[in-house]
Amino acid sequence: SSEGDQVVINSPETLGALHTAASFLNDLHPVAFPTETVYGLGAVALNATAALKIFSTKGRPPDNPLIVHVSSRRMLQSLLPHNYKLSRSYELLIEHFWPGPLTLLFPCDHSLIPDIITAGQPTVAIRMPSHPVARALIAITDAPLAAPSANSSGKPSPTRAEHVLNDLNGKIPLILDGGPCEVGLESTVVDGLHEDGNIRILRPGGVTVEDITQVLVAGFSDAETPIPHILVHRRDYLDDALEQAPTTPGMKYRHYSPSVPVTLLRSTSDVPLGIEPLSPSAFLEDIKHVTPHSPDALRVGLLMPSDSILMKSLINDATIQWHEFPLGLVSEPAIIARRLFDGLLTLEREEVDLILVEEVSEEKEGLAIMNRVKKAAGNTRWITIS
Ligand code: TXA
Ligand code: MG
Repeated sequence: SSEGDQVVINSPETLGALHTAASFLNDLHPVAFPTETVYGLGAVALNATAALKIFSTKGRPPDNPLIVHVSSRRMLQSLLPHNYKLSRSYELLIEHFWPGPLTLLFPCDHSLIPDIITAGQPTVAIRMPSHPVARALIAITDAPLAAPSANSSGKPSPTRAEHVLNDLNGKIPLILDGGPCEVGLESTVVDGLHEDGNIRILRPGGVTVEDITQVLVAGFSDAETPIPHILVHRRDYLDDALEQAPTTPGMKYRHYSPSVPVTLLRSTSDVPLGIEPLSPSAFLEDIKHVTPHSPDALRVGLLMPSDSILMKSLINDATIQWHEFPLGLVSEPAIIARRLFDGLLTLEREEVDLILVEEVSEEKEGLAIMNRVKKAAGNTRWITIS
């Protein structure tokens, strides 16, 4: 329920760990904890000293604002300006998607929320996570927690406690292990504060544009006010140079890149003018020019749907050492989303020379998947798949 702090924790060990984490947080130390999207690096949000430690631990640019996490509707209200009334759209979105992977922008009460959290924005981003450990931690700490993903800035977000340990070991006092994250990609960031009443998707994520559209269409069906438009900020790798004013500060940074080069493989459906698609065998000849860092063979990671036709045609070549990380069926983008970051981080640990990621359709979770993949990929090749 989004009404109150109604998380039940049965295990004494879990409760003990939560209290230990809460005392680190109240002593202004950052702590890593699981959410349903990705692992977060939390600090008490209303204290600038604590929030500053998040930036130094991650190496995060100070102009990239943080999301504040709450465990109850009451805690949300305590952060908002006095007598602030939620719009009909926000009421609907909160009713349907909280707790869950949806972040909303609100007007910021600057007397309460430190500038470091909002990085000078007039708004503050807030979400209520659904992971029971996240909500219990916030409730026990009895304070809203600012939390970016618990990775060094620029790396893929962690979806397992082990990913956090591999990256931040020695830099933070505690990681709460809540198992693998169910959603696997970060929350959808929504700005519904514009005067036109429209809903802007600043970052696609765990809640799909299709889900949001459905809820708003149904929720406004009997209203005199028109159904808000849902505007998706489709920022492509191709638009990078063109973009002047990113609508969410974080989107201007190169993100999600493992230390291994990543190539995005696209099918021939929308080949840009002037690009000649390659056959899979011509592409294979091409990657054999990559210098392997082990003397035996070139190691190539494959991050592709488990029923990928392209994957089948590539692995025929036995001169390459293939590291397959099947993502899930093409027809199940939610599973692909769940496994994407795990795949990038796992293949990086296996010390492959190159990671090949196959594009998926930008429907449902596919939109967020492709947003992250395009940011991770250093280049794109078009392949003919027959
Ligand atoms: O699922 C998630 O959202 C995870 C988990 C831990 O909750 N957190 C997360 O935080 O992804 P982070 O810091 O990695 O991404 C926050 C995004 C950034 O793109 C940032 O620019 C944007 O939210 N953001 C935060 N405050 C904003 C604001 N006031 N206006 C516009 N964008 C904002
Ligand atoms: Mg992040």
